Amino acid sequence: MKRDKSPTLPGSGATDYARYMRTDVLLGLQRQPDEVIHRDELLFQVVHQSSELWLKLAAAEVTETTARVTAGDLATAQALLTRAALAVRLVTDQLEMLGHLSPGDFQAMQPALGNGSGAESPGWRHVQAASRKLGRAFADHLAAHGTTAVDLRPADRADPACRLAETMVEWDERVALWRFRHYQVALRVGGHAPASTPNSSAAVLAKLVEHRFFPELWQARLHSPGTDPL
Ligand code: HEM
Repeated sequence: MKRDKSPTLPGSGATDYARYMRTDVLLGLQRQPDEVIHRDELLFQVVHQSSELWLKLAAAEVTETTARVTAGDLATAQALLTRAALAVRLVTDQLEMLGHLSPGDFQAMQPALGNGSGAESPGWRHVQAASRKLGRAFADHLAAHGTTAVDLRPADRADPACRLAETMVEWDERVALWRFRHYQVALRVGGHAPASTPNSSAAVLAKLVEHRFFPELWQARLHSPGTDPL
């Protein structure tokens, strides 16, 4: 028997898929053929727009991670932060597509971009704000249990606080890997002077690679004892 595919959801799309996914709106968010000044604007917008969506998900998951830490549910917190880290990995992978732009292509589309910079990314700002809140919530959790980051043993898989701390380190690392890859894209595609040029954009981006949301967890690793291998 043929399945009835007529839409049942409210909305103006031709199918329920279109109505639920809002594809009419989504696919209209890229510049139209008569607007583009360079054909690679589509590539450029797709990478940036899809990055914003993944970052939206990442920020939402980090925010919920923080709520779970505050509620004392560290196992769920860890699972949610693992998702957020995967979202940032996907955003990092997408940067590969920008390697298909030459500095000349990128230069040619500049008039279309105005004064815009990825540094104004709302997704990235939300991720940063959410990560800072997570750091504070975790420190509060440890303090409430009379402990500190230095007391955590990274290899202690039985302790939910240690497992979450490991995932927070992973999160920091994923963000740093995005930053490193993005810095390379800025050099390769943006045609920026090397980081050795004082006060250059590249120098700022290179420095940001070292940034950590949870420096105390990295510091604690320097002094952490191992576990008994037996
Ligand atoms: C051809 C591609 C790209 C080039 C040439 C480029 C270049 C730059 C440069 C030069 C900066 C330093 C600030 C400035 O001078 O405006 C910057 C910052 C930034 N860009 Fe990009 N970018 C590109 C793609 C992306 C993409 C796909 C994203 C994803 C959202 C992004 C997000 C950011 C963010 C978040 C910053 C702030 C730096 C940080 O917090 O680490 N950029 N970019």
